[in-house]
Amino acid sequence: MVTYRVAVIPGDGIGPEVIREGVKVVDAVSELLGFEVEWSYYEYGADYYLRTGKTLEEDDLRELSRYRAIYLGGVGDPRVEPGILEIGIVLAIRFYFDEYINLRPIKLLPGVRSPLAGKGPKDINFVVVRENVEDFYIGLGGRFSGTSYSGRLEVVRSLYRMVLDLKVGVDASDEYGFQIGVISGRNARRVIRFSFEYARQHGMRRVSLIDKANVLPHIYSVWRRAFKEVAAEYPEMETEMLFADATSMWFVKNPEHFEMVVAPNLFGDILTDLGAALQGGLGLAPSGNINPEGTSMFEPMHGSAPKYKGLEVANPIATILSGAMMLDFLGEIEAARLIEKAVSEVLLEGKVRTRDLGGSARTYEMGDAIVRKLRELV
Ligand code: NAD
Ligand code: IPM
Ligand code: MN
Repeated sequence: MVTYRVAVIPGDGIGPEVIREGVKVVDAVSELLGFEVEWSYYEYGADYYLRTGKTLEEDDLRELSRYRAIYLGGVGDPRVEPGILEIGIVLAIRFYFDEYINLRPIKLLPGVRSPLAGKGPKDINFVVVRENVEDFYIGLGGRFSGTSYSGRLEVVRSLYRMVLDLKVGVDASDEYGFQIGVISGRNARRVIRFSFEYARQHGMRRVSLIDKANVLPHIYSVWRRAFKEVAAEYPEMETEMLFADATSMWFVKNPEHFEMVVAPNLFGDILTDLGAALQGGLGLAPSGNINPEGTSMFEPMHGSAPKYKGLEVANPIATILSGAMMLDFLGEIEAARLIEKAVSEVLLEGKVRTRDLGGSARTYEMGDAIVRKLRELV
């Protein structure tokens, strides 16, 4: 029997509840189809941080490199200052394993109501490929007030302080923060090439590139050049270059226009929460942080939703569908499709609905319903 070894990080808030259901569903499908997933649990997250002062160290990341896949619930906790867990765990993994693709399908499933009046599953069905290791996420920047400043790279800090002096006129009694985005041609080309390949393999006809090259020309001209270069290799594909602000409007007005959307890290982050809303909510939106040759991480698009912690009201479907994406990545295509089918049917039947879907089913009841449906389908 084939055995896959997967690291699990349940994380904070609703993370443990939704990941428990994801593991349940993957276990059920693997039993039905005759393969095995061996889970190793890691307690990274708020409690671990508050107890040890640590997020992820180099040794932990090295340890995680033993796995082909990581399954993450979500991190973030009101007891911890924003950024510490998000950067120290989620971004640490994305960057360490060079997971340069963030694959985020936006698909309204039958039986789910989109907040968009008059739009159905035929209209809301596209994929966002979000660049995942560069842009404004690289952590380069700093802050300073009149007399002191702290940041990451001494040289850049000093240079920027000089530049800021010219640009904004530094006032010794005020404070300043700056954050630098970088996009490399090499990384832009590989993530854009992935989006074209994916589009071609999935019978799509249009690839839309997102940026704000109109106001951030340094960073996004590199991005656009890479797009034009790669697009030339796919003459059959229609292409367009759109600004992120207008795109957020078009996502709402004409979602049917979109097939493949490729976006820089930060705009991709924002636009995909909007996309999640179009498909019925964050509780339904999966994602995969992919390095085709390396350790990849699968997680719901949402975070730890602390206000729902322990209440068993969160919808586990985003996590369950992320589990399907993980199985697809591991090569268990049939298992992945089966999970998607079971989720679709449970949603279409509409008997078991969590709170976000207008029902009162508990998190585990949704997981159980999907497991029952899997057994019926095989
Ligand atoms: P969030 O995605 O956690 O939740 C926003 C809202 O969406 C929730 O309050 C809830 O109303 C709804 N929601 C989210 N998941 C749901 C589910 N499964 N079922 C039903 N409703 C759901 O975003 P936030 O509140 O901005 O962030 C909370 C924490 O999560 C923060 O610390 C943030 O940094 C972190 N975060 C982590 C990740 C990650 O670990 N990958 C991703 C996003 C946010
Ligand atoms: C996401 C989250 C993350 C991001 C945070 C938690 C680092 O919002 O996965 O969309 O901004 O990428
Ligand atoms: Mn996000």
